[in-house]
Amino acid sequence: MVQVAVVGSGQMGSGIAQVLATNTDKEVFLYDISAAAVSQARDSITASLRKLTDKGKLPKERVDRAMGQLQFVTDLPALQRSVFFIEAIVENAAAKTELFQELDRIAEPQAIFASNTSSIPISTLAKATKRPEKVIGMHFMNPVPLMSLVEVIRSPQTSDDTYNTTCTLAKEMGKETVCSKDVAGFIVNRILMPMINEAFFVLHDGIATAADIDQAMKLGTNQPMGPLALADLVGLDTCLFILEVLYRDLKDPKFRPCPLLQQLVNDGFYGRKSGRGVFHYER
Ligand code: 3HC
Repeated sequence: MVQVAVVGSGQMGSGIAQVLATNTDKEVFLYDISAAAVSQARDSITASLRKLTDKGKLPKERVDRAMGQLQFVTDLPALQRSVFFIEAIVENAAAKTELFQELDRIAEPQAIFASNTSSIPISTLAKATKRPEKVIGMHFMNPVPLMSLVEVIRSPQTSDDTYNTTCTLAKEMGKETVCSKDVAGFIVNRILMPMINEAFFVLHDGIATAADIDQAMKLGTNQPMGPLALADLVGLDTCLFILEVLYRDLKDPKFRPCPLLQQLVNDGFYGRKSGRGVFHYER
């Protein structure tokens, strides 16, 4: 069986590994540094698959097969045979660069490295390896099992072969692809984050309640969830981080993060994952 690897087993990495296992016939290795992290990933994938089968969105046999295709590992050399790597670790350039150097040492020369980064230039990661033409961005949307888009980001060095193989894998996973240049925010976050930020300004300026802001955008623009609930889903810390990258890299004041968003993050209110963001969540 062809082996693919997902490096980093957080919310995004788990979702990516889950979809690879349910939608392709590949052997999927999900790696994280600690046994606790991979065990949590196994639990969250099991819970997500149960939800999808309960709702009739995934046949039970497919779930059993998917769990058989998944391997949870904490040993990086176990990934050696993988032909395609998808990195989804913490959004930190130094950590990602170090990982890409390490993967470059252990992986077969023909293996492709994709990063799920939302903010770090693909060319920076490519430079960390001896295979820059085989490095590409593969930006999945949250929650990965439910969202059909993958933004594919080419650096100036990415080869046509790498791009075509990446799009083919995304399609096998049941995703649609769009192609973006390697510029901060790519397409989705460049447009989405200013909208989310503006929703925080509307709340900050006392123009409407959080519930009414979300209701207005849901019913007024047919969005599946309001921008504030979406910020809670993505993580307020993640939204703030992306806005700071847009502000820094594109040098346009329209990206300045709303002080209310900054305050909530400073106070430890990160959204769903911490039980409280703009809204409260049962845990
Ligand atoms: N696996 C299985 N089920 C999941 C899940 C997962 N990983 N994540 C959430 N769900 C479930 C919820 O638990 C909930 O189930 P429940 O009602 O039984 O508790 C259900 O999905 C949500 O209920 P809905 O009936 O509202 O589900 P829908 O299928 O109608 O829609 C949605 C859910 C797809 C999340 C929809 O609300 C939506 O599209 N929201 C917008 C999401 C979005 O815009 N994401 C992109 C963010 S940007 C990004 O990710 C980029 C990054 O860089 C920041």
